[in-house]
Order: sequence, then structure tokens, then C-alpha cells
Amino acid sequence: MDKRNLSLKPFFSLILSTNIPKAMLIGGLIGSMITTLTGLIIPLLTKNLIDNFSMEMLSVHIIIAISAVFIIQALINGISMYLLAAVGQKIVARLREKMWNKLIRLPVKYFDTTSSGKTVSRVVNDTGVVKDLISDQFPQFISGIISIIGAIIILFILDWKMTLIMFISVPLMIVLMMPLGRRMGKISRKMQDETAAFTGDIQQTLGEIRLMKASNAEQTEKKKGRQGIERLLKLGLREAKVYALIGPLMYLIMMVVIVTIISYGGMRVASQTMTTGELIAFLLYLFQIIMPMTSFAMFFTHLQKAKGATERIIEILDFPLENGQHGLDVDLGHKTLYVKNVSFAYKKEEPVLQDISFKAQPGEMIAFAGPSGSGKTTMFALLERFYEPDSGDIFIGDISIKDISLLSWRSQIGYVSQDSPMMAGTIRENLCYGLEDQSISDEILWKVTKMAYADEFIQSFPDGLDTEVGERGVKLSGGQRQRIAIARAFLRDPKILMMDEATASLDSQSEGIVQQALSRLMEGRTTFVIAHRLSTIVDADQIIFIDQGKITGIGTHHELLETHPLYREFAEQQLT
Ligand SMILES: Nc1ncnc2c1ncn2[C@@H]1O[C@H](COP(=O)(O)OP(=O)(O)OP(=O)(O)O)[C@@H](O)[C@H]1O
Ligand SMILES: [Mg+2]
Repeated sequence: MDKRNLSLKPFFSLILSTNIPKAMLIGGLIGSMITTLTGLIIPLLTKNLIDNFSMEMLSVHIIIAISAVFIIQALINGISMYLLAAVGQKIVARLREKMWNKLIRLPVKYFDTTSSGKTVSRVVNDTGVVKDLISDQFPQFISGIISIIGAIIILFILDWKMTLIMFISVPLMIVLMMPLGRRMGKISRKMQDETAAFTGDIQQTLGEIRLMKASNAEQTEKKKGRQGIERLLKLGLREAKVYALIGPLMYLIMMVVIVTIISYGGMRVASQTMTTGELIAFLLYLFQIIMPMTSFAMFFTHLQKAKGATERIIEILDFPLENGQHGLDVDLGHKTLYVKNVSFAYKKEEPVLQDISFKAQPGEMIAFAGPSGSGKTTMFALLERFYEPDSGDIFIGDISIKDISLLSWRSQIGYVSQDSPMMAGTIRENLCYGLEDQSISDEILWKVTKMAYADEFIQSFPDGLDTEVGERGVKLSGGQRQRIAIARAFLRDPKILMMDEATASLDSQSEGIVQQALSRLMEGRTTFVIAHRLSTIVDADQIIFIDQGKITGIGTHHELLETHPLYREFAEQQLT
């Protein structure tokens, strides 16, 4: 019991942290209390009506008064229901906003280890569970408690003997309902996990639909899908079984109690120790006790569910933000970039980069070469600050880049990455993506696309800059995507430029052209280039050869040709 209370604490502190609209919540609760309390008076009125029935009682005044009470009660009920639902919706909106703001600032590491489907499920489903609890279950629980306490007090006053008989059913219900509720909680938590996993799998497959088709993986996916669906079905059926137990059990207990009360009450009425009105009032109160009790079982299952959901929400909210949310705003122009003894591993004990050191003077072009998987892209990821070095440091001028705010740092770095990623939307939106000033004139956009040799193909689209590129840019060719990525870099006018295989998906004619564009882009900026084709990097000021995460040679093309056997091998294969 203690443990349960303890673990509810995070739930409440999470809810409190959303800045609950208190006035609305209190208003809603008061409204639902009023509704419940008026509900408690109705059996008493009924009793009086039955016991003292006479024609005068049905005067117009009384009918109007009763109707007015009913209408007002319905109104208050409606308002309070709306208020409580609104509180739930507002809390869930704030939770989602909090989570989303957090998610987009989490380090890349988080996304390496958590599937996006699971994360989506946290933001959408788990917050929904919390909402259900707050706007449906919680008010029901409160008004249920009021209703039960009120009804019991009135019943004791009405007839304590019959109340005691009725009470026999209470422990019975608790004994039956507690284990069912706990079971339900377990099932629904599993259900949430399975749903998250299932969402993740579907998303993954739909995202790579071409790979799936090209690999003839329909059968595999069919099987995988069916397994997921069956797991959900199994849990759903288990849930249905528990529900199927709860409902009829409640009904049975209710019936037994009602029959007992009616028989005993009938005897009392016959022996005139009780009036008919009292008996009917008694039965009505009985309903007001039993109904909320049924919903208690639901409340506790929902509480269990919400507890699970909260844990997962908090897991995300507690994850440390990417470092560098705050920091210096530094102009990166005309400063030497110095990578000093940097080592890095994605997973402990599997070093990817080891003791990397080099200097890049302002305006220099530094090229990275080396076998596939040697760690070149990883070096870029460290420069872009997607990850932080495990040891060593990177300096710009004499400032450690850790001290510079991410906003300032990344706004001055242009990164044309290996796979030219794009957002769904138009070419224009992709060019301007993330820029503070979204009202960039067409003239400027055409200028940068021209510099990137992207203007021709964009002009050939009927919608020009407003052409939709499709999800992840699937409607464009690889080379087109790359040139748009280069145009983005032109538009941003970065101080430091990083290009990972920026011309990899171009034919040699376009490569020549884009190479020209790139040379233009590189002018006056410190540039880092990764290229498998050495022809693109022979002019670099320094070529850094990385092999299995270590620098095995630094120098110009000619120096490396002389001193570095593996580089010479690379060069001989390609340049002859
Ligand atoms: N996000 C990641 N999580 C774990 N390991 C990774 C991750 N990204 C890359 N690696 C591993 O790090 C090593 C270096 O990868 P990296 O992408 O830096 O190589 P690369 O030199 O750019 O290769 P290529 O020339 O093929 O692009 C590889 O062994 C790869 O398996
Ligand atoms: Mg790479």
C-alpha cells in the first residue's frame, strides 16, 4: 500500500507542474458536488411524495419548483462537466507542449537509442491516459465518494438495521474488485507498451516502404504485423475477460442486495414498521452507493494506467537537455578551429575516434579521407555538436566550443550532410527551414539556387520554388536534393562549412558544375570536406587521413603521397 502511495507522488507532481487551471478545477468540482448533493435529496423527495401522496401536493407551484430544480441541476451538471473536461484538456495540452519542447532539445544520443514510434506514443497516447484520469475518472471518483458518504449517512438516519444488512455487501465487493482492478492495471500497462511498440514498427516499415518492396519483404512484414496485432488482440481479450467479470459480478451483488433489501423491507412494510416511501427511498440510495462503487474499480485501473504513463512521460521530461542551451554568442569568423586530443565512442569500450588533434586556420579547406567506417562522419557530428567528445576538447580561437551556445554555434555552421535530408513541404520551405526570417525574397532564393546550380531543375517544375518535395524529399532525385542542400548552405552564409560527400550522388558532369559551386561557397570560409573521390580534395590545404578512428597522416596531397602508403594506394586506384 505504502509503495503505491509513494509512486503516486510523481504523478501528482507532474500534474501540478502543468500549472493546473485551478479556478476551473474548483468550479468544476463544486458543480459536480452540487449535482451529487441534489441527487441525494431526490430519494427523500420521492419518499415524501409517496408517503404523503395527495392531490393538493401536485399544485402548479410544486411542479414548477421541482422542474426548476431539475433544470438547474442539469445546467450545473453540464457546466461542471465542461469545466472538468476543459481542465483535463488543458493539462494534456500543457503536458504535450512540455514534452515536445523537451524532445526537440534532447541530445541526438536519445534518438539513437529510442525508436521514434515509442516517443510518438509517449507524446500522444500516454498524455491521453493522464487526461482521461483527470477529466473523467477523477471527478467521478470525487462525486462517487460524496454520493456514497451522503447516502450512507442518510440511510443510517432512515433505518440503521437495513443499512447494516446492506453493508454486508461492501467487503464482498472490495474483496472481489481489488484483485480484478490490479489485474486490469497490469494488462493495460502491457497494452500501452505493446501499442507503443506496434506504432513504432508500423512507422518504421512505412518510412522505408521502398526498401521493404525492393527486398520482397511483404511476407516478413505480414508476419511481423500479424504478431504485433495478435499480441494486442490477446491483451485486448484479456482485458475483455476482466471487464466481463467485473460487470456481471457487480450486477449479481447488486441484485442479491436489492432482493434481500426488498424481501426484508417488504416484511417491514407489511408489519408497518416501515413505509413504502421509505423502502423506495432506500432502494434509490442503494443505487447511489453501488453505482459509484462500480466506477471505483475503473478509477483504480485508470490510476494504475496513468501511473505507468506518468513514469514514461517523466522519463522523457527528466532526460538532460542537449548541452549548450545557454552560452556565449561568439563570431566564428577569422578564428582558428583547434581539435585537441578528442576521443569519442557511441558505446563504451568501442572507441570510434581516438586522440584526434588538428588545427584549421580561418579560410582553410581541410579534407578528411579514409576507409569507410573510419569515423569521418562522426568527426563532423562532433564538430556540429550532435555529440560531445568523451575526452579532449574543441576550441575556436581560445574558447572551448562547449561554452558557446548551440544557437550561436550552429547558426554559423553550414552542414551539407551525407544523405541530404529534407522535410516534407515545398522547396522554398526547405531552403528557409529554421531561419528566423521567413520572408526571404524570391530574388534571393533564386540567387542561391543559381549558385548551387539548382535553378534549372527548379524552374522546370511547374510550381517552381513551391514544388512539394514529399516526405523526406522522395519526389526529388538524390542529386537534386544535394543541390538544394548546397543552396541552403549558401542562403545561410555560414562561417564554417562542412560537407560530407556533398557531390556523391552526382554524375561527373554535374559534379564538375557543383564542384564549381562548392568552390565558390568555400571562399573565405573554413571548410571541412569528406570525399571518397580524391579528385575533389587534391587542392585541400590539409588532408587528414583517418583510419580506424585514428589520424594516420596529415598533409597536402603531395606530402601524403610521399609519406602515407595507404593514401598512395587510394590515390593510385582513383587518379590513374
Ligand atoms: N549513431 C551511431 N551509433 C552507434 N555507432 C555509430 C553511429 N554512427 C556511426 N557509428 C559507427 O561509428 C563508426 C564510424 O562511422 P562513420 O559514419 O563516422 O564512418 P565514416 O568514416 O563516415 O564512413 P563512410 O565513409 O562509410 O561514410 C562505424 O563503425 C559505425 O558503425
Ligand atoms: Mg560517412
